[in-house]
Order: sequence, then C-alpha cells, then structure tokens
Amino acid sequence: MNQQKNTKQGILVKMNIVLLGSPGVGKGTYAKRISGIYGIPQISTGDMFREAIKNKTEIGLKAKEYIDKGELVPDDVTIGIVEERLKKDDCKNGFMLDGFPRTIAQAEALDKIVVIDKVLDFTASEKIIIDRLSGRRICKSCGAIYHIRNIIPKVKGVCDKCGGEVYQRNDDKPEAVKKRLDVYTKQTAPLIGYYKEKKLLADIGADKPIEQVDEIIADVRKALEE
Ligand code: AP5
Repeated sequence: MNQQKNTKQGILVKMNIVLLGSPGVGKGTYAKRISGIYGIPQISTGDMFREAIKNKTEIGLKAKEYIDKGELVPDDVTIGIVEERLKKDDCKNGFMLDGFPRTIAQAEALDKIVVIDKVLDFTASEKIIIDRLSGRRICKSCGAIYHIRNIIPKVKGVCDKCGGEVYQRNDDKPEAVKKRLDVYTKQTAPLIGYYKEKKLLADIGADKPIEQVDEIIADVRKALEE
C-alpha cells in the first residue's frame, strides 16, 4: 500500500479500494462496515443509479432500461458518473468502489483516473447468493439493507434507521437475477484475472452467515492492513 494507514487508532491513511464479487455476495453490507472503520466513502454505482431513477434524471431514465432487465448500463455513462464522483472532496483520503468496475473497459478507464491500492474479491456459493438476492429488501430512502429471514425490520415494510419504505428491487426478481449472474460471469469475472496480474487482489470468503459477519470484516482488515 502506497500510503499511511487509517485505523480507529487515528493514524491517517489514504486507501483506494475496489470491491469485486457476484451480485448478492454482500458487497454493500460489508462496504458500509468498512466505510465506518476507515472513514472513507462507499461509492456504489448501483446506489447512484437507483438515486437517479428515483429523481427521474436523464441518466436515471436511461439506466432503468438496463437495470430492470439485469443488464449492465453502458460503459460511457457509468465511467462518466464515477469520474465525476471521484473528484469530490470526501475522496481525498481514499474511497471504496462498490460495483465498479464491472467490465475490463471500465477497469482500464479507472486506471487512467486513479491508482488503486487493493481489490477485495468476495466469494460465496451460488446457492447462498441466490438465497441472499431473492430475500433481500432495501430501504427506498436511505438504502439500508435487510433480508426476509435474518435481517428483518422491527415493523414490517418500514426501515429501522429512517422510517422509509422497505421494498424488493425490480432486479431481485428471478428473471433479472438469472440475467445478472450470467452477466457477472461473462463481463465482470474476467476482472479477477486483470487485478491478479497487477498483484492487487485479495480473496475474501463470504459464505459465512450474517451472525458471523464480524469474521468476514476481520479478514478484510487483515487484507487491507497487511
Ligand atoms: P448493484 O446495486 O451494484 O448490484 P449488484 O452488484 O448486483 O450487487 P447487489 O447490490 O445485488 O449485491 P451486494 O453484493 O451489494 O449484496 P448485499 O450487501 O445487498 O447494481 C445494480 C445494477 O446497476 C446492475 O445490475 C447494473 O445494471 C447497474 N450497474 C451498477 N454498477 C454498474 C457498472 N459499474 N456498470 C454497468 N452497470 C452497473 O447483500 C445481499 C443480501 O444478502 C442482503 O439481503 C444482505 O442482508 C444479505 N447478506 C449479505 N451478507 C450476508 C452474510 N454474510 N450472511 C447472510 N446474509 C448476508
């Protein structure tokens, strides 16, 4: 790692991190925890698109056509929004990209904008991933993540954190899930080799249940602080 470390002990660090892994492996769940530990922003292209869709912006309307079908939003649109986001002040001490890059073209574009320090590749079995995706619910207002079996809001359909509406994403329905997993294998999985070659990749097993999420986060810390 080319910069100082930023831990809760208060030593400052700059870490530019990419989170890789299949849809539903838990990237968003772990990203929120890692962001709290290191004080760096989670930049989720999926969340940015969902926000744009909610606000009916031009990008949002375009992205919706692809997202609802489980396809990737075109590279030029996605690279543009990430490039703009990385210029913001809160990225000065590092950032965590969640869901970007997703194609080799996006990774090459990213390399022209910033230096990446570490890529965390989360893995879990397909059975676990399908269960996580089909049971996932999220808050329309703050993006908090729930699951129908093991992370249940106290009041059905209402977010514990902000009172917003908890709903099922259109792309978590079976047809779109199938398509997303297929797109992942064909277009995103090749990034594993891309980053392995650059010696940036750390494998993080994410099969463990949510009660053991602290162990997954401990493995992340080990990979980032080694
Ligand atoms: P995006 O929102 O990024 O979706 P994704 O990558 O498919 O990832 P998910 O949000 O589905 O899963 P996750 O890994 O974050 O899992 P989570 O933590 O929620 O993208 C959506 C769409 O936007 C894409 O399909 C594409 O169309 C477009 N898009 C986005 N980025 C793009 C890009 N770069 N280029 C082109 N298009 C792009 O966890 C899942 C569930 O499991 C939750 O219910 C959670 O509570 C539960 N869970 C998590 N961890 C555990 C655990 N350890 N044990 C038990 N349950 C767990």
